[in-house]
Amino acid sequence: MEAQKDRLKDLISHAKEYGFVFPSSEIYDGLAATYDYGQLGAELKNNIKTYWWKAMVQLHENIVGLDSAIFMHPTTWKASGHVDAFNDPLIDNKDSKKRYRADVLLEDHIEKIRQKIEKEVEKGLKRFGDAFDAAQFRATNPNVLRNQEKIEQIEERMKSALEQNDLEGVRQLIIDLEIVCPISGSKNWTEVRQFNLMFSTELGSVAGDASTIYLRPETAQGIFVNFLNVQKSGRMKIPFGIAQIGKAFRNEIVARQFIFRMREFEQMEMQFFVRPGEEMKWYDYWKTLRTKWHQNLGLGNERYRFHDHLKLAHYANAACDIEYNFPMGFKELEGIHSRTDFDLKQHEQFSGKKLQFFDPEMNQSYVPYVVETSVGLDRMFLAVLSAAYQEETLEDGSERVVLKIPAVLAPYKAAILPLIKKDGLPEKAREIMAQLQLEYSVQYDEKDSIGKRYRRQDAIGTPFSITVDHQTLEDNTVTIRDRDTMTQERIAISALEHVISDKASWKRVLSDLIS
Ligand code: GAP
Repeated sequence: MEAQKDRLKDLISHAKEYGFVFPSSEIYDGLAATYDYGQLGAELKNNIKTYWWKAMVQLHENIVGLDSAIFMHPTTWKASGHVDAFNDPLIDNKDSKKRYRADVLLEDHIEKIRQKIEKEVEKGLKRFGDAFDAAQFRATNPNVLRNQEKIEQIEERMKSALEQNDLEGVRQLIIDLEIVCPISGSKNWTEVRQFNLMFSTELGSVAGDASTIYLRPETAQGIFVNFLNVQKSGRMKIPFGIAQIGKAFRNEIVARQFIFRMREFEQMEMQFFVRPGEEMKWYDYWKTLRTKWHQNLGLGNERYRFHDHLKLAHYANAACDIEYNFPMGFKELEGIHSRTDFDLKQHEQFSGKKLQFFDPEMNQSYVPYVVETSVGLDRMFLAVLSAAYQEETLEDGSERVVLKIPAVLAPYKAAILPLIKKDGLPEKAREIMAQLQLEYSVQYDEKDSIGKRYRRQDAIGTPFSITVDHQTLEDNTVTIRDRDTMTQERIAISALEHVISDKASWKRVLSDLIS
């Protein structure tokens, strides 16, 4: 746990030092749980967005994009259920005066029991070596089974209490499990209360309820209210999807863990409209496809796992998370939800407008069912950064920090480095840069020794460093250094584009995705 915390700390300071993420309005001591993306962070974020958009919209002829407004008619949120039901159950510790999400306290407790199980399995592996059968061990070891049963019992009680909005039941579970406040160490808890997560503000100059509007807590509702606009204007046939990337806002009480849980964040959401009764087929389809999208980045397949929701949101008949092993453990990265026809039906009812599709094959109109995929852009950013960040000791005993960011997402694809600042090398380097920057973002750097410059590029995740030396002037060749292996190769300038594109082009990554 300590090591994980340190890793997150290292990541936060590295992200700040190299211009990826800054605390927001830092000169005024920052604003809690709000962050700004710096010059390199903005590039990485844009590249993640592009990867998602291309995979979702460009590769699917039946998915189109949308960019809807953050402000929406307030009735939208009444219809969607957010005004009445978008709540978190909160509990305060009377000694530390700290406020927690009751369900998060319980989930953290469950995670601790899970870690005990994993430790037991690790011990087994050490004891039995290659002959160790982990699956059988999990199915038979008494300690593992006892802890597994504990988890199931807690989950069952938690699910039932949350579903029935039994807040006293949630509190009792916290008391029974003897959960203590991480700060005061005491079990002196208040009752559990519901707290609405939407930010509200006022439209125009009139005060009062009539003019209260909300900052959207999810981008999905902008898609639902435009369902017919897009379907009609785009002549879309079911099944089809609408994709959107945009800001969302939630007044998170327990905002923590860097950019993992923020009050202002970005979502990449896609609503897939299907025939009623076919939603489970599409739910499975999107689970598979979204997993592939993540794994295609090569961050390590063992870093992902599914978590089926115990407490379904008010709109869902099935839901799961793709969880990622962040520095603070496995946590939700993406949600996949079968939202039934809840949202469209609610908007029909509240607006008095029909939101139906005439299916020519069935010769019938219906309100489509919806399967949603929703991934947090900032959490994707953290996932990429945390997998990429590595501290290495090299053969000569020196150390380097390297960001092994997937090449296609790296802020700069290459650095162009003249060996020295004279003899025409800078001019030649700029010539190469002018050629490469038509296709890729590249950086020119002539300051400090070549070794220092390599380290700087390693630290910001640039996959290729191209060095221009005196031989370049004679035969138009350069050395190209690979960030991960640190091997150097001499190649012709004319081959550079090919070498870079083989690792860093969208074509390469997208063709891997569909293969
Ligand atoms: N439209 C469905 C929806 O909003 P959600 O599970 O509440 O579902 C989807 O959110 C995703 O948005 C999450 O999986 C997470 O990646 C991201 N997300 C949610 N709250 C967040 C927060 N406070 N900070 C950063 N990302 C957040």
